[in-house]
Amino acid sequence: MSAPGHRPAKAAAPYPRRRAALARALRAAGGGIALLPTAPEVARNRDSHYPYRHDSYFHYLSGFDEPEAWLAIDASGHTTLLCRPRNLEREIWDGIRLGPKAAPMALGVDAAHSIEELDEVMPKLLANQPAVWFPFATHAALESQIDGWLGKLRARVRLGVECPGSQHDLCKLLDEMRLIKDRHEIGIMRRAGRIAAQAHVRAMQTSAAMLRAGLDAREYHLDAELLHEFRRQGSQFPAYTSIVAAGANACVLHYRAGAARLKAGELCLIDAGCELDGYASDITRTFPADGRFTPAQRQLYDLVLAAQEAAIAATRPGRRFLDPHQAAVRVLAEGMLEVGLLNKKQHGRPDDVIASGAYRQFYMHRTGHWLGMDVHDCGDYTEPRTRAREEVDATGERVMRRPSRVLRPGMVLTLEPGLYVRPAKGVPREFWNTGIRIEDDALVTPGGCELLTRGVPVQADDIEALMRG
Ligand code: GLY
Ligand code: MN
Ligand code: MN
Repeated sequence: MSAPGHRPAKAAAPYPRRRAALARALRAAGGGIALLPTAPEVARNRDSHYPYRHDSYFHYLSGFDEPEAWLAIDASGHTTLLCRPRNLEREIWDGIRLGPKAAPMALGVDAAHSIEELDEVMPKLLANQPAVWFPFATHAALESQIDGWLGKLRARVRLGVECPGSQHDLCKLLDEMRLIKDRHEIGIMRRAGRIAAQAHVRAMQTSAAMLRAGLDAREYHLDAELLHEFRRQGSQFPAYTSIVAAGANACVLHYRAGAARLKAGELCLIDAGCELDGYASDITRTFPADGRFTPAQRQLYDLVLAAQEAAIAATRPGRRFLDPHQAAVRVLAEGMLEVGLLNKKQHGRPDDVIASGAYRQFYMHRTGHWLGMDVHDCGDYTEPRTRAREEVDATGERVMRRPSRVLRPGMVLTLEPGLYVRPAKGVPREFWNTGIRIEDDALVTPGGCELLTRGVPVQADDIEALMRG
């Protein structure tokens, strides 16, 4: 069954303000009309569907989360919604529909029509617009659908109707808007961070308690605890498939929660966040399954934590998106030489390790990403309107690079350094099969950054204390 369960947004909500901002951006870019569908329902198997998840852009501008809906917003801000018509028979099975009649009052849109009129309404809205804006390469067959409406319109050009003369990627405008979070978004993201932190606390405590009681603790037991806490506190979904990785599984970056046993003396890595009212949190903690770090685990853990602290210190307005990564890499490179993961004689000094990329044997991903409605949120990672330089990348390919994005208050990014040590010649055995990542969500503020996810301890001593409790 599909699961609509919509909660119509209030007209006083931030959505009209965002639509007005989009209209201003359209005017600044030469005018036109923006067309935006929400996400389709997706079948899982036969007649069962995945839980419905709206399109993030659509929700950002409407607050509306029923399937089968479109928005059209022109450069004056005039907004038309197309949505499913009321239908008693369907509503008995699938739930209440808002319907076009109630939509203007509930959502603050100027006009609303039934989705069944889509092919008649859209050509009329497109008539005499200088340009059409829609999200490129995001919805299957969207381009051909819009082509069809433009074709209908072109047939009427003889009657004096003008057809839009250009097409533009609407994501370019909306990504810039979504990159800086407004007050409404920050409020939700703070709550999503708090809930996810409490879920991590619960999973850590469950792990220690099950091992103390001599129970057969599995990765899926902790996955269940995470889900319980997310849902108990009103989150609608996990923001992505939770990673619960016992022991060596933590060295698999995209591991899922499986059935592996949690063993005393081994670590467990959990990367899990919840989605709350359309916004993601994204936390990783690595902890000893039984609540006590071994000396070797502690050594690597403290190194990753020091790397994260360096990344946090580099997260402030005016610094660039890549600065936290570079700060973390430097600390990790120094530490790899210090603890013997990399041989000083062979690899030289930290600068050499960074220049040669030798650190990538143990740290092969970036230190963060934008976070928002999508866990890997939209937004340009390079500074717009700056000149690109040609460079040769690590694989020897020639690429055009622009300077990394300057951080500004309201941006939200993750800070998630790690170390992943697989068995290999020359690597001290005591570190083999150890995977550690520490991830928090940082809101850039005027004075630096606010960590939204510190409701779960991160210092090794604090984790041990929590798990003793
Ligand atoms: N959980 C996905 C990520 O950390 O990027
Ligand atoms: Mn992340
Ligand atoms: Mn994560």
